[in-house]
Amino acid sequence: VSVRPRRPGPLRAAVIGAGSIATHHIVAWREIPDVEIVAVADIDHAKAREFASRHGIDPAHAYGDAATVIDAEELDFVDIASAPDAHAGQVELAARHGLHVLCQKPFVGSMDEARRLIDLCAAQGVRCVVNENWRWRPWYRRIKALIDAGTIGDVRYAAFTCHRDLVLPRPDGELPDLLRRQPYTADMERLLLFEWGIHLLDVMRFLVGPITTVEAAMDRVSPLVRGEDKAVINLGFGSGAVGLVDISWGSRIRDDRRLIRGNVEPFVVEGDRGTIELDPHVGDILYVTTEVGTRTEEARGGLSHADAYQDSFTACQRHFVDSLRGGGPAENDADDNLNALAATFASYESARSGGRVTL
Ligand SMILES: NC(=O)c1ccc[n+]([C@@H]2O[C@H](COP(=O)([O-])OP(=O)(O)OC[C@H]3O[C@@H](n4cnc5c(N)ncnc54)[C@H](O)[C@@H]3O)[C@@H](O)[C@H]2O)c1
Repeated sequence: VSVRPRRPGPLRAAVIGAGSIATHHIVAWREIPDVEIVAVADIDHAKAREFASRHGIDPAHAYGDAATVIDAEELDFVDIASAPDAHAGQVELAARHGLHVLCQKPFVGSMDEARRLIDLCAAQGVRCVVNENWRWRPWYRRIKALIDAGTIGDVRYAAFTCHRDLVLPRPDGELPDLLRRQPYTADMERLLLFEWGIHLLDVMRFLVGPITTVEAAMDRVSPLVRGEDKAVINLGFGSGAVGLVDISWGSRIRDDRRLIRGNVEPFVVEGDRGTIELDPHVGDILYVTTEVGTRTEEARGGLSHADAYQDSFTACQRHFVDSLRGGGPAENDADDNLNALAATFASYESARSGGRVTL
């Protein structure tokens, strides 16, 4: 499907959900002259109005719900940045109005829902793309290029190990970082993996290929959240490679290990002829070890870590627009995102049943 704008000029879009991540979206849209954000909606209408005035959108075009903005405005697509449980209804609404969709992760709450919405979008002739920006972080692009160039041979193993204290009670009695930034997370029954680890599974899928089996264990230590704050997941890939995702938001941990420095998480990928390590705690962050010795790559390409965080949104959203204009598939079309989504749900099933689950 390629987009013919309803009027000449840039694609017209509305942002739905005016929370913390929408700010990164709007900064990205400003870098993309082919898109004009003409409206915003949030169930907290005052928040939508405040977002509009802060970001140069006429406050008369700030709405208190998705249905009204979709009815009232002449749009080409919607940029869904609302809380996860609102995504499915808003994707459906947009598709039924013939609007293309860019939807934040986690896409929706079940595989049946995901497939139903992908089919609906196809039937309506609209594109449905998941705003899964993680794989656009410059270091993952560099690792992908190194793997594709054969630098480490065939990939056999990949692992994320990443422990933080994001949901633990603080000594000053203030809410921990996550609950302040994304208040809805306190009530999520599926928390760490569904809300965050899904990024890492998508990076795994991007770098190693489709995930085919999972075996998971989960736990919770924080009294402030409902869902799991620890998960250990063994992965099997279609290629025969194996992987590990070992993550926690409920770890008391030494200060200099506590934070993922600058949004870089420790990651290792081993091939049969070498290893690539992403190490946020050491200067140049990306290391390649091969049979001919050890060398260091500069992964940041001159970007500060903060720039790289924003840059991954900009690159992801630019890719969405390019794919709309060109009519070709996007890397992160919702049906490509199904593998990370399926691995996520299968991990919950595995943690419940205690067994390995085949996707
Ligand atoms: N890609 C990333 O790096 C990244 C990082 C953080 C969050 N996210 C995702 O972005 C989305 C939003 O997260 P956030 O951090 O901005 O959370 P947030 O709590 O700051 O914002 C969510 C906003 O959605 C609004 N909302 C909830 N239900 C709505 C509905 N039915 N209609 C309209 N608005 C509604 C809320 O009022 C709130 O303003 C989530 O899906 C989250 O997983 C992605």
